[in-house]
Amino acid sequence: MPILPRAALLDALAARFRADFGPGPLRCFFAPGRINLLGAHLDYNGGDVLPMAVDRGIYVAIRPRDDGRVRLRSLDFERVVDLDGSAVGAHTTPDLGWAGYPLGVWAGFRAAHGLQRGFDAVFAGDLPVASGLSSSAAIEVVTALALDALHGFGVHGEQLALIAHRAETGFVGVRCGIMDQYASALGRAGHVLLLHCAGPRWEHVPFDPAACEVLVLDTKKPRHLAKSGFNERVAQCAAVHAALRAAGVERPHLALYELADLERARGRLDDVHFRRGRHVLTEMARTRDGAAALRAHDYRALGALLDQSHASTRVDYEVSCAELDAITDAARACQGVFGARLVGAGFGGCAIALLAPGCADAVQAATAASYQSRLGIEPAFYLLRNGTGPVEVG
Ligand code: GLA
Repeated sequence: MPILPRAALLDALAARFRADFGPGPLRCFFAPGRINLLGAHLDYNGGDVLPMAVDRGIYVAIRPRDDGRVRLRSLDFERVVDLDGSAVGAHTTPDLGWAGYPLGVWAGFRAAHGLQRGFDAVFAGDLPVASGLSSSAAIEVVTALALDALHGFGVHGEQLALIAHRAETGFVGVRCGIMDQYASALGRAGHVLLLHCAGPRWEHVPFDPAACEVLVLDTKKPRHLAKSGFNERVAQCAAVHAALRAAGVERPHLALYELADLERARGRLDDVHFRRGRHVLTEMARTRDGAAALRAHDYRALGALLDQSHASTRVDYEVSCAELDAITDAARACQGVFGARLVGAGFGGCAIALLAPGCADAVQAATAASYQSRLGIEPAFYLLRNGTGPVEVG
């Protein structure tokens, strides 16, 4: 299905809601997706990350119920869910599909706040799904915002991120770090979130849309290996951390070590694990330098760090692929591009390029031609703007 502009999407959402659930009042909410400028695979290593909420995400039309039923629909997926809340256990089941994310949030409110009342909801997104732009975090955060608004539990900001993150790790069972839910819940227009995952603590660093634009480069390569490859990287990093501790240096997270510690522990690590550790520690330095570049309004320096980050995820962390390499190479060759790298977990999906404003059309045309001639796949592009955090709309 093509991605609809926001007004058309809200109309379609309300029309589907009324068709499926009948007339009457309804409320609509939005939570953003995110791109991560720097800090690839650092969140689960206690490192610093630099995500930015974007102006696209997930919308929900919702109405509370007096009984315990939960009825869920999506404009993007065919699967419908209609069940009694008492049938929702501690974990999702394969038959629930996408609905596991909102149900996990509802179950979180049940556990933390005693919520028993169900709800009717229709979801829709203007983000490409499963492409590394965090549609799953956005659906969790928008559900958390909506349920809180309907019932007045007073859950805001970081609490929204935490309930959303618990839904993903506890209920759905994905071993992700905290970046995506924090980026969506704490997004602020005109800013990038500098999140120190070890705390967690965060600060908002200004981002100037008049100086730099973000173009998403969609390889159209599905992320088949993302789950197994992601879990393998998490396990490898835990092994590197254990080796560093065994070498006599005790720190709470892998990202908090120095490169010299890694060198000293080299005898305890094979080449693969050494490179995994090197990516984490060099990426940590790049993220700090990236925050400094943002504060100095130096988007060229920021772009160069994105290029280095991509090289490190390709060579040391091995989460890139031929499609992500080809599309970022093609973008880098264009005038006005400051830098490019993969986003999200990698293994396919999307990359981002930072551009001087006004270049997007030319960059898209040249990147598409080069990518298509190398790989025979037609890519897609989305020029994203910096967006707000979660809000009620309509
Ligand atoms: C996925 C995870 C995030 C983060 C990134 C890699 O998007 O959901 O928590 O680990 O990969 O930076």
